[in-house]
Amino acid sequence: MLKNYLKEKRELVDTNIERYLNRLEYPLVIAEGMKYSVLNGGKRLRPILLLMILELYGKSLELGLPIAVAIEMIHSYSLVHDDLPALDNDDYRRGKLTTHRKYGEAQAILIGDSLLTHSFSLIADESKGVSSEKLVKIIGKVSRYAGINGMIGGQMIDIESEKKQVSFEVLKYIHSNKTGKLIKLPVEVGAILCDATQREFEALSKYSELIGLAFQIKDDILDIEGEFEKIGKPIGSDLELQKTTYPSIFGIEKSKMILKETIVEAKKSLEIFPEEKLEVFMRLAEYIGNRES
Ligand code: IPE
Ligand code: IPE
Ligand code: MG
Ligand code: MG
Ligand code: MG
Repeated sequence: MLKNYLKEKRELVDTNIERYLNRLEYPLVIAEGMKYSVLNGGKRLRPILLLMILELYGKSLELGLPIAVAIEMIHSYSLVHDDLPALDNDDYRRGKLTTHRKYGEAQAILIGDSLLTHSFSLIADESKGVSSEKLVKIIGKVSRYAGINGMIGGQMIDIESEKKQVSFEVLKYIHSNKTGKLIKLPVEVGAILCDATQREFEALSKYSELIGLAFQIKDDILDIEGEFEKIGKPIGSDLELQKTTYPSIFGIEKSKMILKETIVEAKKSLEIFPEEKLEVFMRLAEYIGNRES
């Protein structure tokens, strides 16, 4: 059931990504590389979260689609750069050669930059029916969560923490920023689009924080126990680079326990909403703990 829901939404997101990216032509390597890096079998978790919020409030999905696509473009850029030789140095992503292995390193850096910058033009130029005041608020949040106080901050400390054991505090900073912020982002943007009350905003934000944490704990576990055929990226990358992860601090069994507890907490955080509206939010939290890809 959730599987069908995710498939349907993924197809909607993919159609819109294609629609926007197919307009780009020159320089060809950037236009093609952007498509290669985004349209390649990602799960689309982040844009789907934004669509889920719109559905929760009974709003039209059109309202958030350009921003949902923009967030997926930022996420994809973060992966292109994460895989570069200077960072995690990985050869496969989403079951295909990484962008730098396909197009070259200089090209991959620019393709990533282009995905990031172009995403802001989508938000500003393509959002229909959203007030300028809301758009400014959203653009501010997108740049904050992608930058030094978000994904980039987490990525930097992740890299600095290679080849040494860091404290749990530092690990929490890494996870809540490198992964957490881009998962929180679509949920909070959705809440802004839907005029959520402060109390609702806080509940949704808490839910996204917890599923974001669960998502990265599971990612750390899959780096040890996953299968390349399912996950589409190399297994053992964290071990090779001696990254600090949940398993490296707590061991695999305790990490699995923390993952379970985090998912229970995530589900609880939405208690203030009517139960009948929460089915997909509950199933998604469970899926994050059980996913194999
Ligand atoms: C991978 O994200 C990077 C992490 C933050 C763990 P996803 O697992 O969402 O990757 P795709 O988009 O489905 O490929
Ligand atoms: C990266 O975390 C999160 C990003 C901001 C891209 P990882 O380095 O663990 O992601 P994977 O395992 O390569 O997808
Ligand atoms: Mg990394
Ligand atoms: Mg990586
Ligand atoms: Mg990983």
